[in-house]
Amino acid sequence: MDDHAGKVALVTGSSRGVGAETVRGLVRQGIAAVVNYRDKASRANALADELRSAGGRVLTVQADVTDPTSVERLRDEIGQEFGGLDFLILNASGGMERDADETYAMRLNRDAQVAVVETMLPLLRPGGRVVFVTSHQAHFFGQRAVPDAYRPVAESKQAGEHALRERIPALEAAGLRLTVVSGDLIADTITVKMLERAQPGTVAAREAGAGRVLTVPEFAEAVVAAALDPAAPSGTTIFVGGADYLHEQGI
Ligand SMILES: NC(=O)c1ccc[n+]([C@@H]2O[C@H](COP(=O)([O-])OP(=O)(O)OC[C@H]3O[C@@H](n4cnc5c(N)ncnc54)[C@H](OP(=O)(O)O)[C@@H]3O)[C@@H](O)[C@H]2O)c1
Repeated sequence: MDDHAGKVALVTGSSRGVGAETVRGLVRQGIAAVVNYRDKASRANALADELRSAGGRVLTVQADVTDPTSVERLRDEIGQEFGGLDFLILNASGGMERDADETYAMRLNRDAQVAVVETMLPLLRPGGRVVFVTSHQAHFFGQRAVPDAYRPVAESKQAGEHALRERIPALEAAGLRLTVVSGDLIADTITVKMLERAQPGTVAAREAGAGRVLTVPEFAEAVVAAALDPAAPSGTTIFVGGADYLHEQGI
């Protein structure tokens, strides 16, 4: 735990699901965490209270990552509270929201991911790591069919991954590395519930292919491990679950 003393992580979209569990894992390692949320202040505050009562250091900041002004405010609040950042976990994701227009998925899953990295660059300390959290359906988009409802998300998250990989040289110049963590479907998440509603049988079909779907804690544990691995070269991809995808791709 001592190795991480003084280290600071920002997890975007961490009021719930994988993001919240990732924050728990980082704080357990002695890392101070920034919980970013868009809407769910009460959930973010409950998570912060839980972790503070166990001795953790947590800051909650509302910011819609698609809004540059709010991302700049997020950077400034982190700077004031902690003075720097060591881990930037790009977890916030979406595109299936009822009110999303046809450009929203790309604005959130590609443009905002790059903009968050660029806005946080002045805070990110050399030796730090950026982790992009994605799904197999996005990472392998184009190589396997995805449910229609998820298509804009898969396409835009894959575009976001590519855009971030193009920034590897700029990140390396700042002493930073990028890791991509891609996972199979995760049980009991909002995304999977929406997919199941749009296309009943989605989970059963994955269970037939993969044996079982992931759980939030096991995926979050992989995200934390990816962030904390000091040796992984920039551009490393960590795959979690979905052995059939990997077999198909010869990985
Ligand atoms: N669910 C799966 O099956 C699955 C599988 C593999 C990989 N993943 C990846 O794991 C990550 C987390 O997935 P999840 O299922 O836990 O997601 P989720 O439950 O849908 O949560 C998404 C989070 O992102 C936040 N968010 C959405 N739009 C935002 C915006 N514009 N600005 C700031 N925050 C925003 C939400 O905040 P609010 O609640 O405040 O709106 C929420 O906290 C994603 O990157 C996803 O691609 C998920």
